[in-house]
Amino acid sequence: MKLKEAIDKRRSVRSFQEKKVPRKIIKELVKNAVKAPNAGNRQPWIFYCVDNKKKRDEISELLLTQFKRLWKQTRAKSKRSQKISNNFYTNLGGAKNLIFVYRKKVENEPKYIQPNDMISIACALENLMLCAVEEGLGTCWIGTFKGPKTEKKLGEILKVKKNEELIGSLVIGYPKKDNFPFNKKMKSLKDILRFI
Ligand SMILES: Cc1cc2nc3c(=O)[nH]c(=O)nc-3n(C[C@H](O)[C@H](O)[C@H](O)COP(=O)(O)O)c2cc1C
Repeated sequence: MKLKEAIDKRRSVRSFQEKKVPRKIIKELVKNAVKAPNAGNRQPWIFYCVDNKKKRDEISELLLTQFKRLWKQTRAKSKRSQKISNNFYTNLGGAKNLIFVYRKKVENEPKYIQPNDMISIACALENLMLCAVEEGLGTCWIGTFKGPKTEKKLGEILKVKKNEELIGSLVIGYPKKDNFPFNKKMKSLKDILRFI
């Protein structure tokens, strides 16, 4: 698949088939993710890839609780988007796999390190999401995991180390045929592009 085709095809998927993603494929995706540019070549990432049913169910429950807590703020605008969101948050849209990326904090790190590490991890996850398209997989980044209570509980479920901080969370799986992404209106280039 050509890169541009993968970029065009990648949309956030919120409805998945009941099929697990094989670990071999997850490994390949992570291998490509970590080829991303990253600040100071610190490679600050730790990938927690969940495919265990019990853990997956605990995390799904945790996300639903967080969704309900934030519902008023995060409520999607249209009825259609609300329906997609409700299905997604009720049971991860049926997905069996999750990927969480933590960053390793360093003691007494200068202030610029944290934002740079976040950007590095976002670069890695974009690589991963584009390679996933090539494998016939769909992904959706879930920012809803962010928040002190949820992050604490998630850290316990995943048994993360003390010096690790959650940056990115993805759900990944084989899209259902009836998966329709949110309507997406793009801003026009004239509003976002300034040649100097
Ligand atoms: C940092 C980040 C956080 C996101 N958090 C959520 C989320 O919590 N729930 C959700 O349904 N989609 C989430 N998304 C997906 C966006 O809604 C989606 O990327 C955006 O609407 C553009 O649509 P597209 O990905 O289909 O092109 C997130 C995306 C990013 C990059």
